[in-house]
Amino acid sequence: MSKAKSTFFCQNCGAQSAKWVGKCNSCGEWNTYVEELVQKETKNDRLQLFAGGKKGDSNKSILLQDVGTMEYPRIAVPGKELTRVLGGGIVPGSLVLFGGEPGIGKSTLMLQLALRLKNLRVLYVSGEESEQQIKMRAERIGVTTESCFILQETNTQNIFKQINEIEPQLLIIDSIQTIHTSYIDSSPGSVSQVRECAAEFLRFAKETNTPVFMIGHITKEGSLAGPKVLEHMVDTVLQFEGDRNHIYRLLRATKNRFGSTNEMGIYEMQGQGLREVVNPSEILITNRDNPTSGVAIASTLEGNRPMLIETQALVSTAAYGTPQRSSTGFDLRRLSMLLAVLEKRCGFRLGVKDVFINIAGGIRVEDPGIDLALVCAVLSSNEDLPIPQDICFAAEIGLTGEIRPVSKIEQRISEAEKLGFKRIIISSYNLKGINTGSSKIEIVPATKIEEVFSLIFG
Ligand code: TYD
Ligand code: MG
Repeated sequence: MSKAKSTFFCQNCGAQSAKWVGKCNSCGEWNTYVEELVQKETKNDRLQLFAGGKKGDSNKSILLQDVGTMEYPRIAVPGKELTRVLGGGIVPGSLVLFGGEPGIGKSTLMLQLALRLKNLRVLYVSGEESEQQIKMRAERIGVTTESCFILQETNTQNIFKQINEIEPQLLIIDSIQTIHTSYIDSSPGSVSQVRECAAEFLRFAKETNTPVFMIGHITKEGSLAGPKVLEHMVDTVLQFEGDRNHIYRLLRATKNRFGSTNEMGIYEMQGQGLREVVNPSEILITNRDNPTSGVAIASTLEGNRPMLIETQALVSTAAYGTPQRSSTGFDLRRLSMLLAVLEKRCGFRLGVKDVFINIAGGIRVEDPGIDLALVCAVLSSNEDLPIPQDICFAAEIGLTGEIRPVSKIEQRISEAEKLGFKRIIISSYNLKGINTGSSKIEIVPATKIEEVFSLIFG
């Protein structure tokens, strides 16, 4: 072994430098360079880490037309939500990074996956919890299996030793930040360690065609801890989000080489682990006996899945000089924009009012199709007039105050119809090409917010 060497790494993007620098040249962040010890490995001593891997001989180029198509079908995953987010099951040899805030339920979801894949040999490596803790969690989940192995280990060499013995068909690493390789001297969780360990698992996944799931921590700012290069290395990045105080958890793919990134899965955290929410619309809408002001239902779309969501607004006279704007589950800047449109284009005096917005269920919505419902909730609260309970909305609002069309309007309409709504207000531009005659729900086109106002409040 040659002598130890240290290098400075940017904790944000993984760039390295021989000297400490205040500002990263590569990502522009300040104060992110940290010194890490790197040990130069002796030549070839890492080539055979796991059985079945290539012995370092280089690949030959072949004609694309001669490349065989995938012989391995996707591994079916129990549960529709995860299947959809992954794009139809686990691709053999894929490396998946699974991120989320502490306590959100990453370990629970992965253990559930391991337990439910009954005819697959799964190795669950935990660097965070003891075997007993995992056993307790498995008992809580209440699924038994005879093909799930648990390993409490943090060193990759020892992990690969076990892998060679067990030959798992699915490997789960909980979490990549606790794992370290002895080829590098820096501490676990540092940029170079995380990158090296991920690279070892990447090689393992590709060369043995075994899928690998790596759990990753999330920083305070909400991005995956560790270098950005990690996200480039893996095939799929899954994010688990949600409010820890709410029971709903959203699973999204932020990168997926084998499927769409628009898909979303919803789970509910219960006493016995995470339960899939198959029909989110039903739980996200409160059935009230008396209509209340400040509530409007939006027909939104996440990926290909329509979902009806309740938006709530509270508008009141500002108690202090400066009016407050606060929002849960909706982008605050977009809210300010919508309020400015209402003020300037439609003449509603909201500039002196406090406005609070809440999306029911602690869910974060990015679909612009929620705009109209939100605006109507604000107006309803402002006038203190309830919106009839059988109306829902699906349209975006432009800067000029016009009501803009949204994508996949038929799906939104049929979801609203399924849930028993009588009227749906959409943009007139969306009317083109849709068959309005066949549905039981009344489709009401609109072009201006004022029109909608007189439609719902008479
Ligand atoms: P966990 O999977 O440990 O989170 P992470 O690995 O993302 O840090 O989830 C921990 C939380 O989930 C914990 O606060 C307890 C809760 N929980 C339940 O409510 N029900 C359950 O069945 C389980 C296993 C956990
Ligand atoms: Mg955990």
